[in-house]
Amino acid sequence: MSIHFGVDYYPEHWPRERWETDAQLMKEMGIQVVRMAEFSWFQMEPQEGVFRFQWLEEAVNLLDQYGIKTILGTPTAAPPAWIIEKNPEIQPIDREGRRRYFGGRHHCCQSNQTYRGHIRRFVTAMSEKFADNPGVIGWQIDNELGNSHTDLCMCNSCRLYFQKWLLKKYGTIARLNSAWGTAFWSQGYNKFSQVRTPLITAAGENPSAMLDWKCFCSDLIVDFAKWQADIIREKCPNHFITHNYMCFDDKVNYYDLGELLDFVSNDVYPGHWQEGSHQPLYQTAAAHDVVRSYKKQPFWIMEQQSGMTGWEIMGRLPKPNQLSAWAMQSVAHGADAVVFFRWRTCAVGTEQFWHGILGHSGKPGRIYDELKHLTETFADYMDAFAGSMPKPEVAIVHNFRQNYAFQIQPHHPKLTYVKELYKYYRAFYEKKIPVDFVQDTDDLSGYKLVIAPLQFLMTPQLEQHYFDYVENGGHLVLTMRTGVKDAANRCMTERELPGRLGELCGITIPEYDCLLESTGGVLYGKKEYVIKKWCDIIELQGAKCLAEYSTGFYKQSPAITENAYGQGIAWYIGTEPDQELMEDLLSYFERCSEIATLGTAADGVEMMTRESQDQIWLFVINHTDDEQVYHLHDRYELLEGEREEFLHPFEVQLFTKQKK
Ligand code: GLA
Ligand code: ZN
Repeated sequence: MSIHFGVDYYPEHWPRERWETDAQLMKEMGIQVVRMAEFSWFQMEPQEGVFRFQWLEEAVNLLDQYGIKTILGTPTAAPPAWIIEKNPEIQPIDREGRRRYFGGRHHCCQSNQTYRGHIRRFVTAMSEKFADNPGVIGWQIDNELGNSHTDLCMCNSCRLYFQKWLLKKYGTIARLNSAWGTAFWSQGYNKFSQVRTPLITAAGENPSAMLDWKCFCSDLIVDFAKWQADIIREKCPNHFITHNYMCFDDKVNYYDLGELLDFVSNDVYPGHWQEGSHQPLYQTAAAHDVVRSYKKQPFWIMEQQSGMTGWEIMGRLPKPNQLSAWAMQSVAHGADAVVFFRWRTCAVGTEQFWHGILGHSGKPGRIYDELKHLTETFADYMDAFAGSMPKPEVAIVHNFRQNYAFQIQPHHPKLTYVKELYKYYRAFYEKKIPVDFVQDTDDLSGYKLVIAPLQFLMTPQLEQHYFDYVENGGHLVLTMRTGVKDAANRCMTERELPGRLGELCGITIPEYDCLLESTGGVLYGKKEYVIKKWCDIIELQGAKCLAEYSTGFYKQSPAITENAYGQGIAWYIGTEPDQELMEDLLSYFERCSEIATLGTAADGVEMMTRESQDQIWLFVINHTDDEQVYHLHDRYELLEGEREEFLHPFEVQLFTKQKK
């Protein structure tokens, strides 16, 4: 039996006498693994070179006696006070040039060589200590890399690192000047040493420089993680290495980071949400799907919400079985293991109210019983699911650089790259159509329909990739702001928008409009719909007009087009459709592409499949506190659940069928 359920455990927060009770309760609950120590540097090295691993070793061994394995976290997101006292320069500098001090976490600069020296000493000692401990199976490097301060670090060390990175990329300063377009506002450089980190300017920023900075920061984080991964790989060749991601977070390119890891892990808190009682379900689902794409493998959840969340302000109390529904949502989208955060609610520190499975009192209650029931019900199935993957027919293209480019120039104050992806994702999700996220360099030929929103930065290779996909029968959706810039974030000038892709789409875009503080309309079919944020004013060069603007002086000019090309179709959406138009449009695209839906049900009832070589599992999850009915479009055998086509509040049903 492999490992599928776990908890994040902090024995150092509790008296030694309690540990045995914890281990016993965990075992009874079906817990097979704990993650420990990812913030406990001071407890393990209270003074330089004085290592105190005994408590951790005791905890590892004790848990192992109960059949519970350990994943160790390297505590490098929380350097202790004595390191800061000795080397205050490792504390990061924000864009206003202020230092960020000790007292929270992530108070470190990732390029700083002195800090790296501390890490080398500590991680070497820790990995030597636990390399042969039979209770330890793997490592989590640091914690939520990139979850630090908004601007990462802009200190002198980072400045030198940035200059080195630029030198490697451009080779000569003339090339950098050309890529950054420094003819503008007298921004030319004579040498790399004049380039600074983007500390706050008097006015404006250079978009090409900013794109390089963001890519540099991502590379720096990967380099920082590699520094530790190399040590652990050398000392602990039998252990896996993972890292806990944060869904769509973008400080580090998660595809790049994934190359260092044996598998990707993710942290999910669907109930920690500002607007309303929880995160919209489609966003949590999309997050799982993107996490699966980072390594194109099943993943782990290293922190799955297990109670009410909150630091200073608190979220809603999860209702009976809601946590189970969220946990199985993770599994349905590709998680092979679910580790709950955290075992017991902390009595001290910033996260006193970020609740665990046990409350402050440590007494098992409703949530313990609920999750125990969950592990009992699904433990055996989890063995069977392991390694299986969803097999969607639809893909949405996701790219960190496009995201960065829109952070630098959002165009419209409310336009964000990830939210734009969500808008497309949601329409599929609510129709019970599984979706993959893909990188723009991936082979697209396995997908019947590919949505590539906001293809702002364009290269000849990427253009060709899209041509090839459609030529060979693919159905492609491109949207507003496609083909505007080159890879260096400079506007392209050789052709009218959307560049060479205009030939694929059978259009040109001589003008465009930003719907600042207003909305517009389009006519699609016989109906008028609301559109937002942007209007590409399209001229047809062979394409068919699907929808035209009904507002603005460009009323009646095409807004959405269709072009047959090779054996496929290229659609172009020159605006942001509202939800209703999105649904109607995508229904049309789905019909043309012959996409299968899993079933019909109300919003809030989720359907998702995972497939192994010979078997398909279908999950039907009721995320509402009402009873629900639903209908499946295919015949499956019910494995778990009371009654087909009916769901109790927050019920999770599991079906299967053999593949032909
Ligand atoms: C993150 C971190 C955890 C903890 C939780 C709750 O996901 O990885 O250490 O802080 O959030 O706040
Ligand atoms: Zn720095």
